[in-house]
Amino acid sequence: MLNEKLQDYIDSLIQPRQGILAEMEEYAEINGVPIMEPAGIETMLQLLRLQQPDAILEVGTAIGYSALRMAFALPATKIVTLERDEERFNLAVDYIKRSGLQRQIVQIKGDALELEPEVSEYAPFDAIFIDAAKGQYRRFFEIYSRVLKPGGLIITDNVLFKGHVYDNHVIESKRIRSLVKKIDEFNRWLSSHPEYDTIILPIGDGVAVSKKR
Ligand SMILES: C[S@@+](CC[C@H](N)C(=O)[O-])C[C@H]1O[C@@H](n2cnc3c(N)ncnc32)[C@H](O)[C@@H]1O
Repeated sequence: MLNEKLQDYIDSLIQPRQGILAEMEEYAEINGVPIMEPAGIETMLQLLRLQQPDAILEVGTAIGYSALRMAFALPATKIVTLERDEERFNLAVDYIKRSGLQRQIVQIKGDALELEPEVSEYAPFDAIFIDAAKGQYRRFFEIYSRVLKPGGLIITDNVLFKGHVYDNHVIESKRIRSLVKKIDEFNRWLSSHPEYDTIILPIGDGVAVSKKR
């Protein structure tokens, strides 16, 4: 998003993670697990530190990396996180157990489009982090904005989708073209949503920050 030299400079100032987080980053890199990019996650954590939420809902746990980053940054915050992929869910169980933060993080397995009843037991939330199937962003947003407190934040990752949403280049893959269209429609819908004030930050893969009025 930012020019490459500027992005490299900012990334070079981000302190390397240690211990289990470094191990998870290595696992994600080797196994192609798409965890949030460094500048994106640092930005989100800083917003959350300012907000000091009591409870956060995360849609898309993967192996538990961002859930653990949030838990370490906000020791008094409860985190509820949703994942449908069994293998990733189980890896996240192991990592979270090893971190000793299993009482702070509630993992729910299943399709986030169908988990509203289970999630409601932990509602309301002060912040929601949407980082799951990009084609479903609007549905995740609509379902879970019901359990967000007034004044709460919804942070959505990957809304600039590697630049595809604003670059006019030809995209060969029909699947990618359709995803780009969906993300662009989501961004337009979100930016004009009457109940939210939204800004898209050109950080990481593009991070939308929406505040409920
Ligand atoms: C980008 S990864 C999440 C990365 C994680 N937030 C991090 O930064 O460490 C997206 C995850 O969402 C999961 N996912 C996608 N659609 C989902 C759905 N409808 N319900 C639950 N999980 C979903 C995928 O299986 C994948 O593991």
